[in-house]
Amino acid sequence: MNAIQKRYNRMARLYDVLEYPMEKGFSKWRKDLLKHAKGKTLEVGIGTGKNIPYYPEDVELTGIDFSPKMIEIASKKAENYNNVSLYLMDAESMDFENDAFDTVVTSCVFCSVPDPVQGLKEIRRVCKEGGKILMLEHVRSDNKMVGKMMDLVNPVPLHVYGANINRRTFENLLKAGFEPENINITDLWFDIVKRITIINA
Ligand SMILES: C[S@@+](CC[C@H](N)C(=O)[O-])C[C@H]1O[C@@H](n2cnc3c(N)ncnc32)[C@H](O)[C@@H]1O
Repeated sequence: MNAIQKRYNRMARLYDVLEYPMEKGFSKWRKDLLKHAKGKTLEVGIGTGKNIPYYPEDVELTGIDFSPKMIEIASKKAENYNNVSLYLMDAESMDFENDAFDTVVTSCVFCSVPDPVQGLKEIRRVCKEGGKILMLEHVRSDNKMVGKMMDLVNPVPLHVYGANINRRTFENLLKAGFEPENINITDLWFDIVKRITIINA
């Protein structure tokens, strides 16, 4: 088990409580994003399953996470839904066939995936051509001062929580092979929390 898995295992029982103060903003953003999920949908890094209630009813949802304790909590939430399957799996090397999903979703995940470019390449592989990738992610600010501050403070959330606050997710998407013209980005909170939607061309 790697260090990030261990950290999320350690935080799992407290995760929803610690995130509660931020959830007011996030729940609205989750709802707005997830209404666009369609058909066979994969959620990568499903965590404690916070997004589960926001999916349209006709979505067939598969969720993966590499922390056994996080997915244990998600499994309890999923008991109330009959269209959700959950698996313990690493986003960097998924067991799914190529082109398996119509939609792939991530929320606050690419701050934590140890090798984000590899994780994003896997998403590209398992999402159908013409399929949609829906992301709600926090990233490093482009503001010089704020970005530097985020670099400085980053070791704290990384070691306590397992999350980096200074990931350059747009650059990582390009490194993973996504084309800039297929990536649509909206700032939700300053230039730090972003909704990213991608057509997998
Ligand atoms: C900050 S939590 C976000 C959970 C959830 N998506 C949410 O919006 O509340 C990040 C999650 O990503 C998972 N994760 C990080 N890297 C992963 C990987 N390589 N494979 C699978 N899950 C991963 C962690 O275990 C954790 O549950």
